[in-house]
Amino acid sequence: MLRYEHLNIEKKRMELSSLQTLFDLHGKVAIVTGGAMGIGYGIAYRLAEAGASVMIADLNEEAGIVAVTELKKQFGKKIAFVKTNVGREEDVMQAVDQTVSQFGRIDILVNNAGIYPMISVMQITAEDLEKIFSVNVKSAFFFIQAVAKQMIKQGEGGKIINITSIDALHPSSVGLAVYDASKHGLWGLTKNVALELAPHHIQVNAIAPGGIATPGTGTSKEVPDAMKEVVKKFIDKIPMKRMGEPDEIGKVALFLASDLSSYMTGSQIVVDGGVLLS
Ligand SMILES: NC(=O)c1ccc[n+]([C@@H]2O[C@H](COP(=O)([O-])OP(=O)(O)OC[C@H]3O[C@@H](n4cnc5c(N)ncnc54)[C@H](O)[C@@H]3O)[C@@H](O)[C@H]2O)c1
Repeated sequence: MLRYEHLNIEKKRMELSSLQTLFDLHGKVAIVTGGAMGIGYGIAYRLAEAGASVMIADLNEEAGIVAVTELKKQFGKKIAFVKTNVGREEDVMQAVDQTVSQFGRIDILVNNAGIYPMISVMQITAEDLEKIFSVNVKSAFFFIQAVAKQMIKQGEGGKIINITSIDALHPSSVGLAVYDASKHGLWGLTKNVALELAPHHIQVNAIAPGGIATPGTGTSKEVPDAMKEVVKKFIDKIPMKRMGEPDEIGKVALFLASDLSSYMTGSQIVVDGGVLLS
């Protein structure tokens, strides 16, 4: 009896939204960096499907235009591309300005663009360090700074999602020392920015993918024999015994971009088929 009454009180206190409303992104505007292919495209797809206007900010113009054409065909006209080198502050400012002038506002930022060259720590150069940190960490800092200013001006909060990696938690392979340092950095940035932006109702979270089949991992199209061997060894370590698909990150990004995750900030969701358990 007591329990039943308690439930009634709770019911009165919070009006439950319909499931459809919870992930509806109509009227929202998202920037997805590195959205021309791979995980970024998977994320852009689900955000567009949920109704968001999407700006793809990517270095690869050719792939970007193909991605925009494909998404427009599926979901209408509210998709655009801006050529951006995310490691250059001027490019980032231009991408943010173009998004606001084209779509009027920004509600969701996905910092996805990243590179993962395999270089032994003994051979790493200052240029390698600079490039990997620019694309994987500084880029997110530039975008967060510019986008958060816009979100604060709008006064309606916002969602920031950083794509880290299981390597932000545990090394996956020799040769990724700088990558691992950059992804630990991105995770650290996520937590501190979540703290700073919480009073503005801007939620900042991360997704840590495991092995995902993308052009970058060489698993999307024709796989050369040597790569097949590397991938096979990696798959053997995955409890679910397969690589993930970009859409399996896209669906989690939709969760973090929508009202489904209304009380989350400073969290990192691991999406890895169980590989960190092995
Ligand atoms: N694929 C995986 O197994 C995996 C695992 C863990 C984390 N991640 C992370 O997910 C993100 C996406 O990985 P992916 O496998 O889809 O990569 P990918 O190489 O398949 O695609 C990356 C996209 O980013 C763009 N890009 C690269 N450098 C850029 C720059 N300087 N400016 C703008 N755009 C740039 C590329 O043009 C491309 O469209 C990366 O941050 C990566 O570290 C991937």
